Amino acid sequence: MTQLVGLDVGTTGVKALALSAEGDVLARAEESYDLSTPHPGWAEQDPEDWWRAAQRALAALGGQPTAIGLSGQMHGLVVLDDRDRVLRPAILWNDQRTEAECAEIEERVGLARLIQLTGNRALTGFTAPKLLWLRRHEPETYARIAHVLLPKDYVRLRLTGEYAIDVADASGTLLFDVAGRRWSQEMLEALELNPAWLPRALESPEVSGETSAGIPVAAGAGDQAAAALGVGVDRPGPVSVVLGTSGVVFAALPAFAADPQARVHAFCHAVPGGWHAMGVMLSAAGSLRWLRDALGARSGYDELTAAAEEWPPGTEGLTFLPYLSGERTPHADPRARAAFAGLALHHDRGALVRAVMEGVAYGLRDSLELLRELGVDPRAGHVSGGGARSELWLRILASVLGLPMQRTAADEGSAYGAALLGGVAAGVFRDVHEAVATCVRLLDPVGPDTQWSAAYERGYQRFRLLYPALRPLEDV
Ligand code: XUL
Repeated sequence: MTQLVGLDVGTTGVKALALSAEGDVLARAEESYDLSTPHPGWAEQDPEDWWRAAQRALAALGGQPTAIGLSGQMHGLVVLDDRDRVLRPAILWNDQRTEAECAEIEERVGLARLIQLTGNRALTGFTAPKLLWLRRHEPETYARIAHVLLPKDYVRLRLTGEYAIDVADASGTLLFDVAGRRWSQEMLEALELNPAWLPRALESPEVSGETSAGIPVAAGAGDQAAAALGVGVDRPGPVSVVLGTSGVVFAALPAFAADPQARVHAFCHAVPGGWHAMGVMLSAAGSLRWLRDALGARSGYDELTAAAEEWPPGTEGLTFLPYLSGERTPHADPRARAAFAGLALHHDRGALVRAVMEGVAYGLRDSLELLRELGVDPRAGHVSGGGARSELWLRILASVLGLPMQRTAADEGSAYGAALLGGVAAGVFRDVHEAVATCVRLLDPVGPDTQWSAAYERGYQRFRLLYPALRPLEDV
């Protein structure tokens, strides 16, 4: 029996999923791990934790996979020595230590040329600035680098013995010629980085290698491109909206196009010959998790959401700015910080929760507005991620974005897209479009609530004023 396995190496854990050739979920397993913040603004994980969790999750699935597809948290830097030993903890996508290196890269290459070459500007979470940081702050480690990999590609190495990456994930390194779908010699030379460190770059559905049991492993994709496939965004049309730890609005593009100021990312899509643009918030459902933890262990999400439903749209003037770990879109500012503004005595726990949900939705609207400037004109959002399980959050999101929100029957996000890529690699599907058309089933949309729209227009205006008003505080 065909069993297509998707393995997603996420920020909070690994998820393994087994699908039938029709896209039905046969089995799933999750294994979590920790994230360490040795200094404020840093985020690190041990690549061996990913591998151990991946092995456990694959074993828990049972059965014999026909193929495996990989997806994972993007941008993380894994450095190995010449015997494939991990040299230091991986530096993750939400790590903010590289502000100085980002400025250095934009200075060295020139912002306009950088955007021309890579489609993007230098953002703290991206991979290249982390290499420059290592060169400056940990020269002994840097001197021993023989291989540079991204998180899921470390798991691939352990699974198959191959050094490989897909073009979607490679797009987030800042070392990739996104329009040409290959490593950028000019970037490597400008930053004096050794091209021999880099893995082969493949299209997402290509076979990257085999496990010792002879199971083909697809190149796969960075988690956002894989999540987009998982919700049926393989071509221009609807946008993929993700309410995970990070929050994303993602549009497949008809051709490569970068925002002239690179306020949204322009990356290769996991569809050969396809590109996409996306805005990324660093703390989306991560903001709600933070609030839940801050409120104490007794509060579960269901209870918190029920309390939030007691409040009207706009939470009577309470506004949350969701920049708990700095921000990427639209501000590209590692020093941006979160805030509640407009608190009054009558605001309670439910108000805080509702304001968080609304603040995240406003942040996603910022990304949608920037995509619109690129000519993206969606009629619907296909939504995934843990936060999308909340009906209230979906209604808020639909009302703030002015778009119906649709979940999928499987609701498995990136792991689902990764499994589809495995299916294409194994020849179960002719191409990515056939895989998506065969497997992805959408649920009924949650539409904008017309009675909420006016309150959310006003709320969005307030939200837009907050960052410029509060930002000067960080420089005092
Ligand atoms: C995308 C990004 C995040 C991570 C989260 O650019 O940095 O969405 O991939 O896993």
